[in-house]
Amino acid sequence: RMSAQIIDGKATAAAIRSELKQKVDERLAAGGRAPGLAVILVGEDPASRVYVAHKRKDCDEVGFNSVSHDLPADTSQEELLALIDDLNGDAAIDGILVQLPLPAHIDTEAVIERIDPRKDVDGFHPCNVGRLALRIPILRPCTPRGVMTLLERTGEPLEGKNAVVVGASNIVGRPMALELLMARCTVTVCHSKTRDLQAHLAAADIVVAAVGIAGFIKGEWIKPGAMVMDVGINRREDGRLVGDVEFDSASERAGWITPVPGGVGPMTRATLLQNTFDAALRRDS
Ligand code: GUN
Repeated sequence: RMSAQIIDGKATAAAIRSELKQKVDERLAAGGRAPGLAVILVGEDPASRVYVAHKRKDCDEVGFNSVSHDLPADTSQEELLALIDDLNGDAAIDGILVQLPLPAHIDTEAVIERIDPRKDVDGFHPCNVGRLALRIPILRPCTPRGVMTLLERTGEPLEGKNAVVVGASNIVGRPMALELLMARCTVTVCHSKTRDLQAHLAAADIVVAAVGIAGFIKGEWIKPGAMVMDVGINRREDGRLVGDVEFDSASERAGWITPVPGGVGPMTRATLLQNTFDAALRRDS
């Protein structure tokens, strides 16, 4: 019976933060300024509040300047766009993050497109998505970039592997497919209308699960030796956080697997810091 190597995203994220802290210290010592990240939260969604609090804490840890904008749920689209205009013009701000989802009365696309692409540290602006599709990325979406960092740090060659992405969202599935294609994988994107998910997974050397349903992907569906990257963060009725993949059974077949919590989640946060640092460097030069 085989047992997967556990990919420790928490440790990798901590290593990235410590590398970044050192780079920030060097910048400051050379008379530069701290990278600045503006984090905008509209409304009171409990999960969003937690994510945003984490992002702000991470900034403090690595010596970034973080600026919080907590807006009420009834904020108008005009008010939000005006804030983004201000931040676009603010020399101390390198990155602007608008936590999603936004309240239903706000046009999310219009908000994303208002962010200066050079400050779009989520990589969601059509300019940045297009650049990724063309293999000339500048700012790349955090979760897919974080997954690539974990895959790369295993030391396994990715070129030529069959990669199956389960989920086709703008935040994870689609940019993930573009990242894997850029790494020269053979990429399949499965989604809720896919006919035979199991048949696709049976051929998958790499699985990226981004469905949002606890234990949706069964261990028996995993190809022996596969690299299993679980993006899901689902709270079960008993309060326990679990991924989209049945961890215990999958880890008996996989070659590598990310746990939940402690896998992809911390890497999304660390990658946001990397993107903010990259945006600051590029704005300086
Ligand atoms: N909501 C869920 N994931 C994300 C993310 O990566 N960025 C933002 N801004 N909102 C999210």
